[in-house]
Amino acid sequence: MRVASIIFLTGSIITACTSPKKSSLGHVNPYQYTINKKVEAEKGAVASAHPLASKVGIMIMKQGGNAIDAAIATQLALAVVYPAAGNIGGGGFLVARLADGSTVSLDYREMAPASAHRDMYLDPQGNVIPNKSVKGHLSSGVPGTIAGLVESLKYAKLPLKKLIQPAIDLAEKGFVISEREARSLNSLQEELRKYNTTTTAFQKTAPWVTGDTLIQKDLANTLKRIRDNGAAGFYEGETARLIVDEMKRGGGIIDYADLKNYKAKWRTPHQFNYKGYTIVSMPMPSSGGVLINQMLKMLEEKPLASYGFLSPQAVQLMTEVERRAYADRARFMGDADYFKVPVSTLVSESYLKNRMQDYMPDKAGSSEAVQPGEIPAKESEETTHLSVIDAEGNAVSITTTLNDSYGSKTVVGGAGFLLNDEMDDFSVKPGVPNMYGAVGGEANAIAPGKRMLSSMTPTLVLKDGKPFLVVGTPGGTTIPTSVFQTIVNVIDFGLSTEDAVNKPKFHHQWLPDQIEIEKGFPYPVREALQKMGYKLNERGAIGRTEVIKVRNDGKFEAVADSRGDDAAEGF
Ligand code: DON
Repeated sequence: MRVASIIFLTGSIITACTSPKKSSLGHVNPYQYTINKKVEAEKGAVASAHPLASKVGIMIMKQGGNAIDAAIATQLALAVVYPAAGNIGGGGFLVARLADGSTVSLDYREMAPASAHRDMYLDPQGNVIPNKSVKGHLSSGVPGTIAGLVESLKYAKLPLKKLIQPAIDLAEKGFVISEREARSLNSLQEELRKYNTTTTAFQKTAPWVTGDTLIQKDLANTLKRIRDNGAAGFYEGETARLIVDEMKRGGGIIDYADLKNYKAKWRTPHQFNYKGYTIVSMPMPSSGGVLINQMLKMLEEKPLASYGFLSPQAVQLMTEVERRAYADRARFMGDADYFKVPVSTLVSESYLKNRMQDYMPDKAGSSEAVQPGEIPAKESEETTHLSVIDAEGNAVSITTTLNDSYGSKTVVGGAGFLLNDEMDDFSVKPGVPNMYGAVGGEANAIAPGKRMLSSMTPTLVLKDGKPFLVVGTPGGTTIPTSVFQTIVNVIDFGLSTEDAVNKPKFHHQWLPDQIEIEKGFPYPVREALQKMGYKLNERGAIGRTEVIKVRNDGKFEAVADSRGDDAAEGF
């Protein structure tokens, strides 16, 4: 729907001439809002991919909610205002430090449907069928997001019906879209026509323009069923019927039993020490926690800070630890409920020391020479991030995804939400790269009920047991390297929070054997790395990192990545 007249002022104020309607949104005006990149706050802070979602989180805390309430409400709002990745048809991970000092992690990653099988994306000759694991109905895993949000109510203070109402209002009454969103929706139109059996709210004959209002009535109704029935409002009843009918129309395989059997799982966070800080991150089926553990520990003894931020020496060392960790990811990592992942060896001091033995300063390593490590036979396994903190001592780090931007591009007819294409995160054939170029094998092969290996790395850094950093990002396989670099930028290089987030990032994932760099990566450093023998590949943005830092004076500093419409809010 197009609004009458639009005043689009700058990149940071989105506005349309529509008067705010009274709703659960309180002071959040979906027709005129600002994008703040940095806030300082005392009582609570939220950084997420969308200003309206961040504002909803703060509003919930002002109404008496804690950081968990705010995280649930923010995520539900993102499912409406950030359809490219915010979702109820995908999955995610939560890592939290609770007010009582304990740490928890929740796995609500999608799972393979019961009738999925190892070779389901191969033709009779055993070749991968292009796009089959990436687009349309067959690419979706059983969604986990709603199970995860309902499960995390365990630590919330407010009822679901209060936390979900802002999302319902945003879907029902609409919100004004930004230039970036208009562009993104326009680029999606052809695929929407191709992969849908009904007409979706994202389709329009005239192009979307800045200031248009996006209304999602079917999604509002789905959210109301969840409000009234909790997880059963998604996994059973009308919503389940709409999902299964959609699967039947489009040749998908998710059935009623898959939906009913889906469970979010509490897991022990992957935790370790780095230079006196405690890092709390996600365990399998995320590779993230183990990867950042390996990378940080491989360089802990080296004089990294003395090399200087983004110096050729620092980038080279960080590249070489990234190479080694990602080689291990390809061989050893997958859903630990299905495959024995040798976690304790992979992060042990002697193993990591050994991994770095062939590291040569000033000379490029090679991924042919650096293979996955040796594990002894006897061994004791488009995305979006939000960071939330409150004054009670709760800190929440959530990364959630549909995988590709707008997932499978398939919207559940009548239910109004996009389904993920997370099945592509499995290794659909040993050695064949997925959409992020990641290779895998047995550890991450498809099996019924199994969860596909993820790179999502929602992370907390604790100082003396108390929250210091809340950090995470989207970006496929670049996620662990972005989180790793953000942590090193703050702890080792002493960068400000903004610089730690916004300065150019780089990425090496073993295969392909090249360093991916962002456009702003300095030219003299490129030349120095090339001289050492590295191949460089300039690419688009790496991640959209949201960080909250607790300063020495106890105040929160929330920074939203400048690479997108991401916004930080606080009070
Ligand atoms: O779980 C994973 O590792 C991927 N599905 C994440 C995808 C992602 O970050 C896309 N965003 N840019």
